Amino acid sequence: MAYVVGDGCVRCKYTDCVDVLVIDPETCIDCTLCVPECPAEAIFPIDEVPDDQKEYIALNAELAKIWPGINESTDPLDDADDWVEVHGKLQYLER
Ligand code: F3S
Repeated sequence: MAYVVGDGCVRCKYTDCVDVLVIDPETCIDCTLCVPECPAEAIFPIDEVPDDQKEYIALNAELAKIWPGINESTDPLDDADDWVEVHGKLQYLER
């Protein structure tokens, strides 16, 4: 696994990153293109995931197998801008 979508994505989902709502470690080709696209700065190389977001490593691996992928950007969640500066959003993750 090369990249991980972390806490910043929760309740935002801007989708500028396209196709990486969670990153499937088996298909990530380590292209790095998703990282600068995210307005929430939610995407990290696996060896730079902040300590308080390590849980997202396993979550990406798990959820990438069951969540649908997308290949076009969509509108972010209605209140995404209200949540983009909020940290510790794991409790709001909806499966
Ligand atoms: Fe999420 Fe950022 Fe993509 S908020 S959907 S990782 S652009």
